[in-house]
Amino acid sequence: MKVLVVFGTRPEAIKMCPLVYKLKEAKGIECVVCLTGQHKEMLRQVMDAFNIKADFNLEIMKDRQTLTSITTTILESMEPLLKEVKPDIVLVHGDTTTSYAAALAAFYQQIPVGHVEAGLRTGNIYSPFPEEMNRLMTDRISTYHFAPTEKNRNNLLAEGIAKNLFVTGNTVIDAFQYTVEDDYQFASKKLRDIDFKSCRVVTVTAHRRENLGEPLRNICRAIKRLANEYPDAAFVYPVHLNPFVRETVFDILSDVSNVHLIDPVDVLDMHNLLARSFIVMTDSGGLQEEAPHFGKPVLVLRTETERPEAVEAGTVKVVGVDENAIYSAAMTLFDDSGAYSAMAQAVNPYGDGKASERIVDALMGVSATHFYGEAYR
Ligand code: UD1
Ligand code: UDP
Repeated sequence: MKVLVVFGTRPEAIKMCPLVYKLKEAKGIECVVCLTGQHKEMLRQVMDAFNIKADFNLEIMKDRQTLTSITTTILESMEPLLKEVKPDIVLVHGDTTTSYAAALAAFYQQIPVGHVEAGLRTGNIYSPFPEEMNRLMTDRISTYHFAPTEKNRNNLLAEGIAKNLFVTGNTVIDAFQYTVEDDYQFASKKLRDIDFKSCRVVTVTAHRRENLGEPLRNICRAIKRLANEYPDAAFVYPVHLNPFVRETVFDILSDVSNVHLIDPVDVLDMHNLLARSFIVMTDSGGLQEEAPHFGKPVLVLRTETERPEAVEAGTVKVVGVDENAIYSAAMTLFDDSGAYSAMAQAVNPYGDGKASERIVDALMGVSATHFYGEAYR
């Protein structure tokens, strides 16, 4: 069975590289990796960390790219590639425009699609934007659905997607076995200079399209007030390379001495930073899954989440994008050790680190019924 794995952004890469390892080990599977290059430097950081060489890179990234340009360029570039590689199945991940466009390109060639991290939903097509619609459409196109949790599976069933559903856990948990070390030495000098023993470290990230503008300004103002209120704490903010994000963040936070604005760090530094943080404040999807693994409270800087499992478990709180709400939620964690302990339980609802193996097993089962003998399509 020839499996073409397509991804293009940092979070997809972090969650697909562990699966690529397992696909490459599996007997009877030929694994071909295609990057769309929706991200450039931030994607390269992940590929270098996992030491995986892609077979193809469409290199589509443009400065301040639009959703239309990402979609159309991927569609145009994937068509000849799919005709050349002729995969039996295309695997895509999650909710990016890469995932949706690659799934659509495969569908146009009548090649079945497997969706890793299927079934996440907020129920609001504009939040996150455009991710909620990307994953709805990707699930609709896909033949095989690898849902991280039972809840995700139930979301698919509620939409009438009832065949070829596999609950696997999230492959991001698999990634930790390759990234986290007890005596880890940071590659980033800024991170090496922080005294994690004596100082409470708050890890911050924010980049979502729907937060650009006023919501991101609110987030930054709240961080600035917190940094002034807690001068002994260190706020570490690896700033996404999107120029719209950087303009706002540097404008508001660059002169605050205990806010460390750094370039995106590689995934090894990032996972080990999470493991050593006091709390995490973020609008990221992936960080909502990773921080609970380390028992770190997460304040989600968004109005809703497609990842309610950790909210229910108590480690994640959705605080929205209002400056005062963010400020007071963080203050509670700084000042109230009871509230902190209640959130800092090591609860991890996203799997046991074996999601990639389950996906490979499912594909092997599928191959016996669909790909051998009679052609699938
Ligand atoms: C994309 C995904 C989002 C995901 C995020 C992860 C879509 C529509 N959005 O959003 O779901 O959460 O990735 O980070 O699929 N840039 C660089 N170098 C890089 C990466 C980005 O310079 O390595 C800059 C470019 O100017 C680019 C801009 O950032 O145009 C935005 O990148 P884009 O992929 O469009 O959006 P993200 O916000 O990264
Ligand atoms: N991450 C990283 N370096 C950074 C910031 C984040 O490696 O400087 C990792 C983080 O640990 C997580 C993923 O990137 O695995 C999340 O990516 P992002 O927030 O960009 O996207 P999302 O998950 O929101 O789609």
